[in-house]
Amino acid sequence: MGVKLVDITKTFPDLSHPHREVTAVRNASLEVRDGEFVTFLGPSGCGKTTTLRIISGFEAPTSGEVWISGQMVNDIPPNKRDTSMVFQSYAIFPHLSVGQNIGFGLELRGRPRREIRTEVEKIMEVMDLKGLGQRRPDQLSGGQQQRVALARAIINRPSVLLFDEPLSNLDAKLREQMRLEIRRIQQTFGITSIYVTHDQAEAMTVSDRIVVMNQGDIVQIGTPFEIYSRPATRFVADFIGRVNFFEGRIGPGREVAFTVGGRKEIQSRSREFAQGDPVVVTVRPESLRISHGEGGFLSGKISKAVYLGQVVEYEIDTGRDKPVLAVTHNPVEEGFFSPGETVGVDFSPVAAHVLPA
Ligand SMILES: Nc1ncnc2c1ncn2[C@@H]1O[C@H](COP(=O)(O)OP(=O)(O)OP(=O)(O)O)[C@@H](O)[C@H]1O
Ligand SMILES: [Mg+2]
Repeated sequence: MGVKLVDITKTFPDLSHPHREVTAVRNASLEVRDGEFVTFLGPSGCGKTTTLRIISGFEAPTSGEVWISGQMVNDIPPNKRDTSMVFQSYAIFPHLSVGQNIGFGLELRGRPRREIRTEVEKIMEVMDLKGLGQRRPDQLSGGQQQRVALARAIINRPSVLLFDEPLSNLDAKLREQMRLEIRRIQQTFGITSIYVTHDQAEAMTVSDRIVVMNQGDIVQIGTPFEIYSRPATRFVADFIGRVNFFEGRIGPGREVAFTVGGRKEIQSRSREFAQGDPVVVTVRPESLRISHGEGGFLSGKISKAVYLGQVVEYEIDTGRDKPVLAVTHNPVEEGFFSPGETVGVDFSPVAAHVLPA
């Protein structure tokens, strides 16, 4: 049954303008299926935490409904909702041992000691914390502390797990490791999960679906593949990964006449356009093909080449205000393009995604 948001809006008094309001979340509707992992992704201040707090019950919506497991929970306090929250700051008790921290929720519920010990041991095994039960949290690494926080949230077997940027205190390498870990644990237990991050790589790796937010609005809901390859707006295209925008107009056939020159047939239209409509064609850097000498629908000079081993990143100056970005994946076979060299730029029609200008 999962989680359902129906037309949720949340306004706060604007602290800097006495009689004005800030709309943190605007008309948000969403259904998270049972066992699904959904991520809220968007820039700082777009309303991610507010939405999560509305689901957990720590914040009341100004209007709209929250449903958890088929029940409308607007009037149900946080501790009576079947949710558990994992925070960035872990919120583990420094004076309790790891085992006591993990078993805390069961103790609160008055479960028998033996049962708590068995459950704690079981979950420590799954979470790769075996043998650390007697330690205090400050005797653990950052990743281990994060696993304790996760174990503590999971041990109650909540219907819904809520995560607010749980990995942002960890260094890059550990973050990558932990996000796979979180996904593995979530799948092992099959717990419906809602995760908040502003890190697009993190969202792509862990999520079944991503909800992209901008300034209080949900701008797109889709699988990582849909969000990346078929962004609904220019904002989404730009926020998720790197992208090239080429302005143009719809021609008489299925082609786009580009402002920079040249026409090209585009197969993948996200919406219906009429002839003459101004459009923006988005193409990811890895979908651009570059060739020696002039050619393609656009030519330019390599202004920057960054060799990263498995890929080479290029910037190409085509006389537009922004350089064109291209990535090639097999430098050994495809060869290099040197700074200053003239190259042709092209792409396959399926790699292009058309948005209204
Ligand atoms: N208690 C509050 N009172 C007034 N304004 C608030 C309050 N809580 C949040 N806001 C405002 O609502 C908007 C959304 O805040 P929110 O914390 O949901 O953003 P966020 O997407 O989680 O951002 P971040 O990535 O920085 O954590 C912001 O403009 C914020 O200033
Ligand atoms: Mg936040």
